[in-house]
Amino acid sequence: MYNVREVVKDIWWMGAADRRLELFENAYPVPAGMSYNNYLIMDEKTCLMDGIDDAVTRQFFENLEHVLNGRTLDYMVVQHMEPDHCAAIPELVAKYPDLKIVASAKAIRFISQFYHIDVNAVTIKEKDTLSLGKHTLTFIAAPMVHWPEVMMSVESLTGAFFSADAFGAFGAMSGNIFADEVDWEKDWLDEARRYYTNIVGKYGAQVSGLLKKVSAYDVKMILPLHGHIWRENLGLVLDLYTKWSSCTPEKNSVAIFYGSVYGNTANAADILAVKLADLGVRDVRVYDVSKTTTSELLSRAFEYSTLIFASATYNAEIFDHMHTLLTDLKNHNLCGRKVALIENGSWAPMANKKMNEMMESMKNMEIIEPNVSIVSSVDDNVAEKLDELAKAIASKLFAYTFIIDK
Ligand SMILES: Cc1cc2nc3c(=O)[nH]c(=O)nc-3n(C[C@H](O)[C@H](O)[C@H](O)COP(=O)(O)O)c2cc1C
Repeated sequence: MYNVREVVKDIWWMGAADRRLELFENAYPVPAGMSYNNYLIMDEKTCLMDGIDDAVTRQFFENLEHVLNGRTLDYMVVQHMEPDHCAAIPELVAKYPDLKIVASAKAIRFISQFYHIDVNAVTIKEKDTLSLGKHTLTFIAAPMVHWPEVMMSVESLTGAFFSADAFGAFGAMSGNIFADEVDWEKDWLDEARRYYTNIVGKYGAQVSGLLKKVSAYDVKMILPLHGHIWRENLGLVLDLYTKWSSCTPEKNSVAIFYGSVYGNTANAADILAVKLADLGVRDVRVYDVSKTTTSELLSRAFEYSTLIFASATYNAEIFDHMHTLLTDLKNHNLCGRKVALIENGSWAPMANKKMNEMMESMKNMEIIEPNVSIVSSVDDNVAEKLDELAKAIASKLFAYTFIIDK
């Protein structure tokens, strides 16, 4: 059986979906499963672009044998030596003894670290080329997108850009492997953003560098190792990557994150959301940090321009789940957001002081005053402060919109 489609003449997508997977990298929830893509170029030489995850190797070999149709495999380009793309290397090497593995020096080293095997290695570096007949691959170094050994490739006959983990998404595909075959913005954008921010988001500078390098090539399609293939409207996904990698928010609106034991801080968050709505702010989101996964919250923090953190004090600290979120935002190098802080405490409120320290350790976080301090539950004084804060936030948002519109 096989699960393959021809992307463009002689370049085949060979895919496999793992819908049983709960946590990608044993860390990120994937309720809709995960797709693993690889590609086979059929020319005078046959060339496999990357491998596959352990969970789906059987499907992979069925796909490969179907497309090879009795031919041997001459090359495997290992763009990214992460095990979810390389689990089949030992079996491939055993099955095709003359197979040449084309990869960066680091990737070749990682192969022996992971699998303790010798391979027929062809070491490549930036701007090296590999001719397969009519097709020629030019290699582009993309260190830390998402590991240090990563090389990407542009194929000059077709303009195919093999982008490794960049431009990927969480979620298993259904045969409609091209972004233009699905309602991508409605059904896939959130999972593409969550994938980017969680997996590659920390390395925005490296992604920006990659986008600059790739712009020198005549790219006509993007072929990532997870998620959809782009052959139309590439501007949409390139624009998103430009925003995400430069910490530019997609939405000029407010996401409120609260951490609350008994519900009083949650109440303040909802009151603030109502006040913002009354002032004309749209698309406001409110999240309970104990309920929504940090993975999702990180993604929303990259999406929104203005973030409100509201936390109960917990053992003279920030509430645990909020602390986890803020640490994750810092670790993923989130920067350039407008931020407001709300704390709650019954005897010695400390959360604002601690949250403020965390904001100061991140780049270009602009605090919107006033900080709000609740003593156990919302009273008239707090309601007034929330009113003042809502007005301060709205005026920032609308001033920003006004400048952009000009
Ligand atoms: C385990 C625990 C530790 C707490 N530590 C503090 C504290 O250090 N300082 C303080 O003022 N309140 C502390 N509190 C009290 C809560 O912060 C306070 O009651 C707050 O109003 C709760 O807000 P909420 O209704 O949103 O949960 C603690 C509560 C719990 C359950």
